[in-house]
Amino acid sequence: MFAVHLMAFYFTKLKEDQIKKVDRFLYHMRLSDETLVDIMARFQAEMEKGLGKDTNPTASVKMLPTFVRAIPDGSENGEFLSLDLGGSKFRVLKVQVSEEGKQNVQMESQFYPTPNEIIRGNGTELFDYVADCLADFMRSRDLTHKKLPLGFTFSFPCRQTKLEEGFLLSWTKKFKARGVQDTDVVGRLANAMKKHKDLDVDILALVNDTVGTMMTCAYDDPSCEVGVIIGTGTNACYMEDMSNIDLVEGDEGRMCINTEWGAFGDDGALEDIRTEFDRELDLGSLNPGKQLFEKMISGLYMGELVRLILLKMAKVGLLFGGAKSSALHTKGKIETQHVAAMEKYKEGLANTREILVNLGLDPSESDCIAVQHVCTIVSFRSANLCAAALAAILTRLRENKKQARLRTTVGMDGTLYKTHPQYPKRLHKVVRRLVPNCDVRFLLSESGSTKGAAMVTAVASRVQAQRKQIDKVLALFQLTREQLMGVRDKMRTELEYGLKKETHALATVKMLPTYVYGMPDGTEKGKFLALDLGGTNFRVLLVKIRSGRRSVRMYNKIFAIPLEIMQGTGEELFDHIVQCIADFLDYMGLKGAQLPLGFTFSFPCRQTCIDKGTLVGWTKGFKATDCEGEDVVDMLREAIRRRNEFDLDIVAIVNDTVGTMMTCGYEDPNCEIGLIAGTGSNACYMEEMRNIELVEGDTGRMCINTEWGAFGDNGCIDDISTQYDKEVDEGSLNSGKQRYEKMTSGMYLGEIVRQILIDLTRQGLLFRGHISERLRTRGIFETKFLSQIESDRLALLQVRRILQQLGLDSTCEDSIVVKEVCGAVSRRAAQLCGAGMAAIVEKRRQDQGLKHFKVTVGVDGTLYKLHPHFSRILQETVKDLAPQCDVTFMLSEDGSGKGAALITAVAKRLQQQGKEN
Ligand code: BG6
Ligand code: BG6
Ligand code: GLC
Ligand code: GLC
Repeated sequence: MFAVHLMAFYFTKLKEDQIKKVDRFLYHMRLSDETLVDIMARFQAEMEKGLGKDTNPTASVKMLPTFVRAIPDGSENGEFLSLDLGGSKFRVLKVQVSEEGKQNVQMESQFYPTPNEIIRGNGTELFDYVADCLADFMRSRDLTHKKLPLGFTFSFPCRQTKLEEGFLLSWTKKFKARGVQDTDVVGRLANAMKKHKDLDVDILALVNDTVGTMMTCAYDDPSCEVGVIIGTGTNACYMEDMSNIDLVEGDEGRMCINTEWGAFGDDGALEDIRTEFDRELDLGSLNPGKQLFEKMISGLYMGELVRLILLKMAKVGLLFGGAKSSALHTKGKIETQHVAAMEKYKEGLANTREILVNLGLDPSESDCIAVQHVCTIVSFRSANLCAAALAAILTRLRENKKQARLRTTVGMDGTLYKTHPQYPKRLHKVVRRLVPNCDVRFLLSESGSTKGAAMVTAVASRVQAQRKQIDKVLALFQLTREQLMGVRDKMRTELEYGLKKETHALATVKMLPTYVYGMPDGTEKGKFLALDLGGTNFRVLLVKIRSGRRSVRMYNKIFAIPLEIMQGTGEELFDHIVQCIADFLDYMGLKGAQLPLGFTFSFPCRQTCIDKGTLVGWTKGFKATDCEGEDVVDMLREAIRRRNEFDLDIVAIVNDTVGTMMTCGYEDPNCEIGLIAGTGSNACYMEEMRNIELVEGDTGRMCINTEWGAFGDNGCIDDISTQYDKEVDEGSLNSGKQRYEKMTSGMYLGEIVRQILIDLTRQGLLFRGHISERLRTRGIFETKFLSQIESDRLALLQVRRILQQLGLDSTCEDSIVVKEVCGAVSRRAAQLCGAGMAAIVEKRRQDQGLKHFKVTVGVDGTLYKLHPHFSRILQETVKDLAPQCDVTFMLSEDGSGKGAALITAVAKRLQQQGKEN
């Protein structure tokens, strides 16, 4: 009995001595909680640095966005292929995720070897090899006939800008294939797959193993928001708030960040805790100076660290009586699995002896105890360091959520964590000690990272399918060159119809004579009033023209026309106009003045002379009763008479296109065409009298107001019209009319956009499938909003803010789609408008028998002026469809009021001359 006690005492004493010896020797490797808290703080600062846009380039912890935005919600389904490359084993898998969700994930897999000559050879050969393994797997499982989406788990640091692309930052661990760094590994694999002509795979997602692990665990436990690998390498990912990720646009929701914590310390931040053994190990590694944190922790290095320590201890006579063996001198002879075996509870000591003997050593009892303790110190340090970094992540999560206490799950994987007998317990304990305000559940990923990668791929595949649906809708707005030429030619035909007596009555493009015969010649002068009605704003102006110096001074005031007046009775409308004139005269101190007036009236009017105009029909937003078929000049005169306060001499009625042409013509005599791309769309141009069959006389020219907005009212462009155009038309004040205008002008583009958005929402592709009241509201997308949304200078966030202002609660993805929709609609508008303009300039060129025709077009309208791309696309289209014409577009800075005054000046002079004769 006594002997047993003595033995036990002896043994305990021996053990204590050995442990003390090793503890002393490895003093630097034993980290106190104080040190761990310090490391935790350093890692928190590193994360911050990696996330910041300006600090990221120099950060060693790269904090890589993964473009994985949500954990699985159980709705994922389908059949996927998966590759798992970069851990200790390379696997190819087929994963079946069923609709019923959770319980139903089936996997079939096969391991393939990764010989050193492949993983450290030529990069192209590496990807060829991976592709060959995949092909072998598919053929052996009879998957050649299917096009399957593939998720690629690639456990190395990659810079991603989207889910299906990733540029390798650097190889880590055992890999070092040439010519892969800085290339897109998805592209590389896809290229390699092309060699297998019978196979068709679609690589939809690139996933780090930490991310795959987190997603795998989250499938079973939705509160999993961190993934940690402690295997060949070590790393962690977690869900970060988008608003903290500077490198990715958008601030809503969360995104998984692959921290790549293995590189912590690469900038020297951990020098105070690194030991001579860490430095020696690093020097002998494939990537010296890199992954310094990983090298203190992970499985690839742990055995080697132990070997270096044992060697040193033997050298200084602390072990094996100073004896060394050649195996102990050989790199890689102690592996992590040996460390794990030596630390086993019961067999540990026996294992240690066996392992040391196998290394050609002759260990004593005390040697074995000492060696075992070396292992413990090294693996404990590993767990401590991991715990510190993980504690930093958990603290960050808790702070992001502004919670006093965080309850969360961490998904775990990696051979070291899984097979080392003490590791998990130690890690968990330290973490809980470092972050007492977090309740952490550690969940081991039983099925590796592939199940999670399949979830990511499933989401990507759903997004891809949705993208296809969106593209299908947008494609309806993409016109081919042939289609645009078709539009140009049909427009040309309609222009001719409108001019000819025979066809005029049935023509849709009315080609209205304006009785404006020429351009201003600079001799115009006088003081005029002008009205400008029909665009976005109603203005009253005073225009003073001085002859000779071609100088014009204008004073104007904008007045509102309430909707109930625009759509009330004609009398009310004209009374309101006269009221505004009275206010203006008052405001200008001109009460009682009798001035000649030019009336810009931006609606189709049939004229028989310059001061008579019968309204053919209201367009745009006007619908006042008892006006159509009436002479609007008479209506204005009567309203003035009714008011009986002042008298005005209405000398001319002018369409806004004509006013614009004249405004620009005053500066540039080459200006013979006027274009409005604003609320409405229309053009006028100078036509040969001989072509205008409705007006007597064959000499000289007259301006024709084409009223091209009505182009297509006979169905001639139905082939390019979409269901959305139809809906917009049906919801308008003048259904069936102004079909071309409804595809090209500001008043309707927003409506087309709105109709598309409603449809996409209905299909579940936008706004989470919810059609809000706001979206149902007509007219919410005014031209100015379309223009803002499409501005290139605008970040996504700002687009989202505009949409929010419009009452549309959109996600960032929604904002991207909305912007694309706006782009497709406005682009088509600009192209169609360009095709119309090409028809006019070509006609003018041919009518004059010219090979080349040089002309200036005066332009006005909010769409042209505000939209960031409309004018450019319009001009490009004209150039393309009328290559023999050299068309200059001149923006009318002063509106059409000036032109109207010039016309009035000429008309007034002619009037007086008429009287004198
Ligand atoms: C596996 C995962 O279970 O663990 C891999 O499927 C991962 O994606 C690996 O890389 C990490 O552990 P180890 O020890 O194999 O590097
Ligand atoms: C203005 C002209 O500048 O532009 C108006 O003075 C014209 O006559 C208008 O109707 C057209 O643009 P919008 O966008 O206001 O309809
Ligand atoms: C290395 C890789 C990292 C990976 C980890 C675990 O640190 O750089 O991407 O997650 O190993 O496999
Ligand atoms: C509408 C009108 C037209 C006007 C155009 C631009 O198309 O019918 O007369 O020129 O809008 O304002």
